[in-house]
Amino acid sequence: ATSALADRFGREATDLRISLTDFCNLRCTYCMPESGMVFLKKDQLLGVEEIVRLVRIGVERLGIAQVRFTGGEPLTRPDLEEIIAGVAALDPRPDISLTTNAIGLDHRAGALRAAGLDRINVSLDSVVTETFERLTRRPLLHRVLAGIDGARAAGLDPIKVNAVLLPGVNDHELPDLLDWCLTRGLQLRVIEQMPLDADHLWDRGAMVTAGDVHTMLAPRFALSPVAEARDGAPAELFEVADRATGHHRGRVGIIASVTRPFCADCRRTRLTAEGRVRTCLFSREETDLRDALRSGADDEAIAQIWRAAQWGKKAGHGMDREDFVPPERPMSAIGG
Ligand code: GTP
Ligand code: 5AD
Ligand code: SF4
Repeated sequence: ATSALADRFGREATDLRISLTDFCNLRCTYCMPESGMVFLKKDQLLGVEEIVRLVRIGVERLGIAQVRFTGGEPLTRPDLEEIIAGVAALDPRPDISLTTNAIGLDHRAGALRAAGLDRINVSLDSVVTETFERLTRRPLLHRVLAGIDGARAAGLDPIKVNAVLLPGVNDHELPDLLDWCLTRGLQLRVIEQMPLDADHLWDRGAMVTAGDVHTMLAPRFALSPVAEARDGAPAELFEVADRATGHHRGRVGIIASVTRPFCADCRRTRLTAEGRVRTCLFSREETDLRDALRSGADDEAIAQIWRAAQWGKKAGHGMDREDFVPPERPMSAIGG
């Protein structure tokens, strides 16, 4: 029988985000230290069967309806197609999505879609070569763009583009980036930077806010809220028209985790790459499932550990509190 992943604030987690690895081929300043990190070893990561089993427990016993694979960079796992095929074969079959930097996607989009991948979100903060390299510390913009083209050619739809805005680095490019996305039928989501950078450089006073985004877009674009309900999603969506012509161009999303937190409607539970439950991006504790998996625990025992962990989920990230302390692990190790 299903008994939901509930917490003491009346929320139920139906969305599972699984980090497949803490490794990445980029070094985005807001996510990973320049030096990289000591990455997990292969036997510390969950294997295909372990991942599929945990998702099966999620859909059969805990009411999980959506699964998103994240990282690190999930495409750095050669067995991603196998993982997705295993999850797509479950009953009930969850919605399956991927958050990726798109490097290598040109060669794999067809196989991933055939395996059961429903949709992708691509992290791309700039389409200007110099800015991209400053932000990611790697000269690989052309590979990201090839990956996006490959995903479109393979029929993956929708494709969303995630851009974190950093003051003085890429924020001035926002109108051009939006235009670039709209021209290609991609849905841009502009993200407020959260204090999850390895170097702890985040500064509340200096960050680019959702309010700034509206101000920066206003001269060129007219935004109006979409009609549909938000339904627990992090992004607030807007219809976009060209200010000069009134011509409708598509949609843009704004993810305002800092200035307009959406924790009260949160439906997420997370697994780290080594198989620990994190109930929130900002959790200061994790609950291990890998030991239970590897020591022969049955499905219901694992479901119970997970439910108990989720019950301890905090009301919200608490970024506004005096005593806020960011998690020790940087974003790359948590799985955005
Ligand atoms: P869809 O709405 O299904 O397309 O995905 P998503 O927006 O939930 O996921 P994605 O991985 O594309 O993340 C977009 C941004 O939202 C990233 O900056 C994430 O870190 C952020 N995000 C995702 N989930 C949460 C969350 O639970 N809390 C907060 N504060 N931010 C989140
Ligand atoms: N703040 C907000 N978003 C972040 N991401 C990575 N680090 C941060 C941060 N510090 C985003 C990435 C990716 C998504 C999973 O999380 O751009 O698209
Ligand atoms: Fe949910 Fe934590 Fe994200 Fe808030 S910060 S929306 S509680 S995962």
